[in-house]
Amino acid sequence: MARLDVTEIFDGITFPGHLHTQDSLRYAVDFKFEDTDTLIVTYPKSGTTWMQEMVTLVSCRGDPLKTQTQPNWARAPWLEQYYCPEVLKASQGPRVLTTHLPYHLLSTALQGSKAKVIYVSRNPKDVAVSYYHFHKMAKFLPEPGPFSHFLSDFVEGAVHYGSWFDQVKGWSSNAGNIQNFLCITYEEMWQDLRGSLQRVSSFLQCPLLEEELTSAEKGCSFSTMRENSMVNYTLVPEEIMDHSKGTFMRKGKIGDWVNTFSEQQSLRFDDVFASKMADSSLKFVWQN
Ligand code: A3P
Repeated sequence: MARLDVTEIFDGITFPGHLHTQDSLRYAVDFKFEDTDTLIVTYPKSGTTWMQEMVTLVSCRGDPLKTQTQPNWARAPWLEQYYCPEVLKASQGPRVLTTHLPYHLLSTALQGSKAKVIYVSRNPKDVAVSYYHFHKMAKFLPEPGPFSHFLSDFVEGAVHYGSWFDQVKGWSSNAGNIQNFLCITYEEMWQDLRGSLQRVSSFLQCPLLEEELTSAEKGCSFSTMRENSMVNYTLVPEEIMDHSKGTFMRKGKIGDWVNTFSEQQSLRFDDVFASKMADSSLKFVWQN
C-alpha cells in the first residue's frame, strides 16, 4: 500500500494514492466487462455503501449472511482500486463492482456491454457536507479546513474524484448509451426503501418474495448498517480512518445540508448549479 499522503493524478483528476495507482486506474479503463456484471456508479458520499448493501441483499434474496460476514469492499470492490484484480480472482459467481470514475473513462469499456449499471446520485449540498465530514476522519484525504474553503474546492471540482457536476452530467446524460442502466437517487432510496429495493430487484432480474423483501429492507436500513462492522468501516485501522473524528454512518438524512450551509452559501451554490448544469436538461428529485 502506498503512503497516505500521496495523490495520484489520472486524466487530470486526483485520487487518494493509498488506494489508487496509475496501473490500477489503467486496469479500470481497460476493464473487460462481462454481461453478467453489475456495476454500481456513484460520486463519493452519494449512497455507494447503501447500494452495495441493497445489491448484495437482493442477490442473496434477503439473506443477511453475506452482508454480515464479508466487508463491502470484498463483495463489491472498487474497479479503480489496486486490490480489485485479486478480489475478483478469488470471487465466484456474477461479479458486483463499484466505481467513482467519470463516464468518459469507462465509456469504451462499457461499449456494447450488457453489464447492468446502477447510477446513484444525491443532492450535491448533502454530498458536500457528507464529504466534508469524511475528510475529517479519512486520513487519506487532505485536511479540509473550514467548511467555506472545502465548499469552494467542491464547487470548483478541486477535490479527489473530480467535479460532482461533471460526474453526474456525464453518467446521467449518457444513460441512452448504456444498454442496461438504472438511475436512482439517495432521496428515492430514503423516501421509499422498499420500493427502491423492488426497482433494484426487477432491474437485476432477481424477483423477491414478500418476506425476502422485508428481510432485505431490514438489512439495509440505516440502523442495521450503522451497527454492521462489515459496512460501517470500523474494520479500517485507526491510522487510515480516525474513528474519534466521526463515524462513516454519520447521519443518513436528506436535506440536512441546511444545518451547515449559510443562506449565502446556499444561494451561491444554486447559482453555480444553474450555470454548470445549463447545458443539460437533467432534472433531479431534490429540485422539486
Ligand atoms: P451522511 O454522511 O450524510 O450521513 P458513501 O457510501 O457513498 O460514501 O455515502 C455515505 C453516506 O451515505 C453517509 O451520509 C451515510 O450515512 C449514508 N448512508 C449509508 N447507508 C445508509 C442507509 N442505510 N440509509 C441512509 N443513509 C445511508
